[in-house]
Amino acid sequence: TKVTPYVNEPFTNFSLDENKQSMEAAIAKVKSELGQEYPLYIGSEKVVTEAKIKSINPGNVDEVIGYVSKANQALAEKAMVAALETFESWKRVHVKERAEYLFKAAALMRERKHEFSALMILESGKNYVEADVDTAEAIDFIEFYAREIIRLSEINETQPLTKITGEDNKISYIPLGVGVIIPPWNFPLAICVGMTTAAVVSGNTVLLKPASTTPIIAHKFVALMREVGLPDGVINFIPGSGAEVGDYLTTHPKTRFISFTGSKEVGLRINKLAADTVPGQIWIKRVVAEMGGKDGIIVDETADLDAAASAIVASAFGFQGQKCSAGSRAVIVESVYDQVVEKVAALTKQLQIGLPENNFAAGPVIDETSYERILEYIEIGKQEGILLAGGEKAEGNGYYIQPTVFGNVSGKARIMQEEIFGPVLAIAKAKDWQEAIAIYNDTEFGLTGAYFSTDEERIAEALETVHCGNLYINRKCTGALVGVHPFGGFNMSGTDSKAGGYDYLLLFTQAKLTSRKI
Ligand code: SER
Repeated sequence: TKVTPYVNEPFTNFSLDENKQSMEAAIAKVKSELGQEYPLYIGSEKVVTEAKIKSINPGNVDEVIGYVSKANQALAEKAMVAALETFESWKRVHVKERAEYLFKAAALMRERKHEFSALMILESGKNYVEADVDTAEAIDFIEFYAREIIRLSEINETQPLTKITGEDNKISYIPLGVGVIIPPWNFPLAICVGMTTAAVVSGNTVLLKPASTTPIIAHKFVALMREVGLPDGVINFIPGSGAEVGDYLTTHPKTRFISFTGSKEVGLRINKLAADTVPGQIWIKRVVAEMGGKDGIIVDETADLDAAASAIVASAFGFQGQKCSAGSRAVIVESVYDQVVEKVAALTKQLQIGLPENNFAAGPVIDETSYERILEYIEIGKQEGILLAGGEKAEGNGYYIQPTVFGNVSGKARIMQEEIFGPVLAIAKAKDWQEAIAIYNDTEFGLTGAYFSTDEERIAEALETVHCGNLYINRKCTGALVGVHPFGGFNMSGTDSKAGGYDYLLLFTQAKLTSRKI
């Protein structure tokens, strides 16, 4: 079949009754199927274990989403054996055939879009728009990486090597081997799907260990890949604890690469464990890590202040601030500080909190550990700044916290430096735009940032000096689109990889040069 050019999956407009009703119907359908048990997939086997991971709705903690079997070290080893064996055949499957599985999966996911989103609404606490965007991004990743592996396989035509007489030279991108995929819960579909399909379409086989708070949506993706006929053993599904299964596989001699998205602490630990070679290991493991952020929005006095305030609020509180791209800081130039802060506080207070399935702007945070951590940071914030909005837990049978804003925070404050991963925004005042950029840059992270200004010279300077992987001018700092805004950050934000970008699959392949005398 002919491959059409890549385009982004459109978002659903939920202000249309028709669309809202289809989502409500999808939620009702998913609700009627809650509480089931899900197996592991290891090679051709479905494995049911006695130990289970219980997944609950963070917005209504008495509602059980499902129970997924839980791998231990022995099962992780079994999955490794299955993945190693499958790699021998999968690596020889033609690129176009590998891509074809992805195209089929994207088409099916598109057909069942709201069903995937509905499950995320219930399992992760996303509202309609956030869940819809997540599913759209998942479809985008599948479509994009399928085309990317085809492009890489044809690179000798588009980027031929320098010719010399008497030789025919070619480059090909071959897979690495068995990879461990450890995705996060915050884009429980998109990032899980993106990390997994990138590795698999490149010819690797994987051990997928989903986040323990969102294993059911991960299972739904794996079930979809099985439905489209992806051979057994290409994706081995092994939910389990990081300490047990994660560490075991990270230190395993046969693990060729680890693709991780999550916190800085876990990313650094994986990087360290993976760096040690063990007996029987004949390669240096590759680690692709996308870690945290302390992203921020800078506003100078020439900016459109309403647009800036809306972007600050959207970036800080979309999905309760639980995005690595979340704008958890704002730095505002003194002369417009009061105006912007007033707008931000007013917009924040308008955000209504409630059940995700009823599509409230603000929902719960993911689990009790997050809830406690965020509330602690709010107490720290009360010492470090002036409370302008929120500041308390909120009503509801789940992990609800008021969207919270602190003003007059020093750039060195803990709430300005540490990733909170919750609905907490810290605002600093700068004497001018240069100082604002300096405050922005004073972080160990470097994922996303935005600069609001109408001054062309300053924008030019900001483009050069604001140090982050994804820098936006006059728009919010969340919502990168696959293929449009390759996504990933600098410094402690990770290994400088760009998901949804034209060099991403190089991370899951190695280049082989063949030279033939003619
Ligand atoms: N890609 C997402 C965003 O840009 C974050 O993972 O918001």
